[in-house]
Amino acid sequence: MRAETGRAGDRVTVRAAAKINLHLGVGARRPDGFHPLVTVYQAIGLYDDVTATPVAPGAGWSVRTTAEADVDLDTLADDDSHLALRAGRLLAAHHGVEAAAHLEVRKEIPVAGGMAGGSADAAAALVALDRLWELETSDDDLLALAAELGSDVPFALLGGTALGTGRGELVAPIEDRVDLWWVVVPHEIGLPTPAVYRAFDRLAARAGPSPSVDTASAETASAAGLVDALAAGDAARTLARLHNDLAAPAYALRPDLAERAALLADAAGRPEQPVLLSGSGPTQLLPFTDVERARAVVRALTERGIAHRLAPGPVAGAHVVVEHG
Ligand code: C5P
Repeated sequence: MRAETGRAGDRVTVRAAAKINLHLGVGARRPDGFHPLVTVYQAIGLYDDVTATPVAPGAGWSVRTTAEADVDLDTLADDDSHLALRAGRLLAAHHGVEAAAHLEVRKEIPVAGGMAGGSADAAAALVALDRLWELETSDDDLLALAAELGSDVPFALLGGTALGTGRGELVAPIEDRVDLWWVVVPHEIGLPTPAVYRAFDRLAARAGPSPSVDTASAETASAAGLVDALAAGDAARTLARLHNDLAAPAYALRPDLAERAALLADAAGRPEQPVLLSGSGPTQLLPFTDVERARAVVRALTERGIAHRLAPGPVAGAHVVVEHG
């Protein structure tokens, strides 16, 4: 058993970013129920902060979540199923730490929005507790623990722009010389990820194997143009290559999202640029290379009463922002 490592009064806050998928290629369902992915992740400037505080010896784990005014917490559990809490317990078990901690989660990332907010909380909790308890967990171990918690959690540690394979948990940074501004449009009603994957399975069964999602190698090839464009700093080619295989099933489940996409393209004054769905949705995204143009669209959305955020990408992964000793 490890000694109690948190000194009373210590407190560590870690910030983790929302993720979007610039490319999301999905293959046929694996026997374990997950889908093989080839994805290009990007971390964008919407953040959750997790503050870890020590508790008295013998006290249990606890978590409290608060949010920005426009983030709906109704579907989020403050119990053992909270991903930040699961992350804390997993890190403690990994190191044989017997102490528990209290976690304060301040959410800016939409809940059930397809932006991996829960994964960001888990990644932030891992880093915060690693620092609070001075565990110095290796990067490889942190990534492995993150992968146990969820497919998107390793990327939340990494941030930036990265290629994701496996079920999304195998991440490798890629060169990205394109700076983008994302107009992020959350939706009041969330969309559970498993339901979107089930809809994907139904569409795939009806259509037969799609050449673009049939094999991992074909998928890697389909992301190659985007990866090249990012490395070359070619913004126009990057925007032309944005792609999400979960858009069709998400829109099949939620026809209102297709209507919203048309409305957004109209507000943006460019019907030629398709609106990108964020992960499994329902959050929708409009990319801009020019911040002034993005701000004009922000004004148009404000006039139409459509809630939105403006966020730059790429940004850093989970990192310590405050440490009180
Ligand atoms: O890994 P994570 O817990 O985030 O996944 C949530 C759900 O999303 C899974 O239970 C599964 O239904 C679906 N999923 C999938 N294939 C992936 C990732 C997630 O089918 N690659």
